[in-house]
Formats: sequence, structure tokens, C-alpha cells
Amino acid sequence: MLRAVTWVHRGLFHFCTGVSVRMTSSGIDQNGVLANRVAVVTGSTNGIGLAIARRLAQDGAHVIISSRKQQNVDRAVAALQGEGLSVTGTVCHVGKADDRERLVAKALEHRGVIDFLVCNAGVNPLVGSTLGASEQVWDKILSVNVKSPALLLSRLLPYMEKRKGAVILVSSISAYMPYVELGAYNVSKTALLGLTRTLALELAPKDIRVNCLVPGLIKTDFSKVLHKNEPFWNDFKESQRLHRIGQPEDCAGLVSFLCSPDASYITGENIVVAGFSPRL
Ligand SMILES: NC(=O)c1ccc[n+]([C@@H]2O[C@H](COP(=O)([O-])OP(=O)(O)OC[C@H]3O[C@@H](n4cnc5c(N)ncnc54)[C@H](OP(=O)(O)O)[C@@H]3O)[C@@H](O)[C@H]2O)c1
Repeated sequence: MLRAVTWVHRGLFHFCTGVSVRMTSSGIDQNGVLANRVAVVTGSTNGIGLAIARRLAQDGAHVIISSRKQQNVDRAVAALQGEGLSVTGTVCHVGKADDRERLVAKALEHRGVIDFLVCNAGVNPLVGSTLGASEQVWDKILSVNVKSPALLLSRLLPYMEKRKGAVILVSSISAYMPYVELGAYNVSKTALLGLTRTLALELAPKDIRVNCLVPGLIKTDFSKVLHKNEPFWNDFKESQRLHRIGQPEDCAGLVSFLCSPDASYITGENIVVAGFSPRL
């Protein structure tokens, strides 16, 4: 694993966005690039999803927070509202149809329209090889990581039409550079790159753009199996061109930019946020 991860991060690609945040005392930028817009972010009570939700709200959007556990939703909503941000929340396990319906209904409560969907929720129930994955593991990974973004979007689409909105899927650097220990997960994240391209074509006539955030290794609970391993983690950090590990906030600015009018001619792109990557 150590060798594989180190190799992945020995590339040269460096992506940088220049989006600034102009804050008021309430925490919301009333004249922000996303003012009067409504965003749904899945898996947004922790890690990358929470950072994205916070950033979209800071930039003026009303954000609907969601994840599987009520207590996590309550905690995230309270924290962001405490920062003066406009957010509401509901439970939504993205793999469950009833939960997706609940999320749609919650989102419509705000203004009856939806501008942005960020499909961040993702799972990896197995550290092991592709051929070692049971049918149950395949079903879970493909259902949550690949099918749910398409199924949720199909339900939200009627309310996104005529809004010139945007969809952002969340893949992984393992889509390009598979980690041997993450067999089926790698495959699901590669599928998301294709889903991005296909949806971008399908939704272009409706003026809805579809792009994909491709994070490298980011310090979250999801990656804690790696950062709990101190020798690996320190070695990894030193091997990074930027001499640091990615933080959830490193991913958030890109998502805000992709939602903004500045990205109005960008669709179907898979954009790496990994410090650098060997991808041309
Ligand atoms: N961290 C990394 O290094 C890294 C690298 C590349 C890509 N990614 C991708 O980035 C995304 C977010 O990862 P993260 O590192 O931020 O993870 P994280 O810190 O573990 O947070 C995951 C969030 O998703 C929620 N969640 C989990 N399963 C869900 C489901 N089935 N339905 C709805 N919500 C669910 C969790 O809350 P509940 O427990 O309440 O559901 C939590 O809010 C994932 O798609 C992951 O594959 C992460």
C-alpha cells in the first residue's frame, strides 16, 4: 500500500484555484457568487462533504445537509447555523430510494427549486482485491458510489431545469491510479469519470453542467487507516511536492468555482485535487 500510494503521488500535476471568500459578520456572503441559489450535498456531515457544504453556504447558497445518521445531521446543521450560514438538513442514505425522496422533499422546502447537486457520499466496505469482493460488496459499492448519483439526479432534475445549474460528482485519484487494496472501490470511482462525461452530454441541452472532483489523499475519517499509521503518514507527507497532506477545505473551493458563473463553459471535466498527480 505504502509503495502504491507513494508512487501515485510522485507525479507533477498541480492544480490551483483562485476563488476568494468575502465574508460578512453573519458568515454568509450576501453578494456571493452563489447568492439566492440552492445546493444539495450528499454525505455532508463530515470530511470533504462538510467542507463543501460550508464553502457553498459561505459563498451565499442555501445548502441542504444530509447523511445516514440523524445525530450527525443535527450536529452539522447546528455547527453551520452557528456560523451564521443558511443550511437545513435531513437523513439520507443515498443507496435507499425512500431516503432520496426525503432529501428531494427537504430541498424543495426552501424555495421549490434546486441549482446544484454535489454527490459526495461514497463507501468502501472492503480492503481487498477485486476478485475477493463478494456479490454483496459489489452491490453496496456500485449502489452507493455509482448508481445513487444518477438516481438522485433523475429525481432532482425537474426542479433544476431552467436554473443553469451544476452537478459535481466526487471520484478519487484511485480512479486513475488504482490502489491494489481497494479493488472494487477503484472500479466504482473510475465509473464515475464516465458517468460525468455521459451526464454532461445528456444535460448540456438543458444548460446543466456536470463535472467531477477527483481528490487525492485527504485527511478525513475515511482515510484514517492511513493517518493512524504514523511512519507511513510522515513518510507520505515528506514525499509530497507541497510537503503537506490534503485537507477537506482544499477540495471545497473547486466545487464552489464549478458551481459559479465563472465555470459556465466548463462541463464534462474530471479535475484532480491531489497536490500533484501523474496524469497528463
Ligand atoms: N479522504 C480521502 O482521502 C478521499 C480520497 C478520494 C476520494 N474520496 C471520496 O470523497 C468522498 C468523501 O469522503 P471523506 O473522506 O470526506 O469521508 P468521511 O470523512 O468519512 O465522511 C463521509 C460522509 O459521508 C456520509 N456517508 C457515508 N455513507 C453514506 C451513505 N451511504 N449515504 C449518505 N451519506 C453517507 C457520512 O456520514 P454518516 O456516517 O452519518 O452517513 C459522512 O458525512 C467519498 O466519496 C470518498 O470516496 C476521499
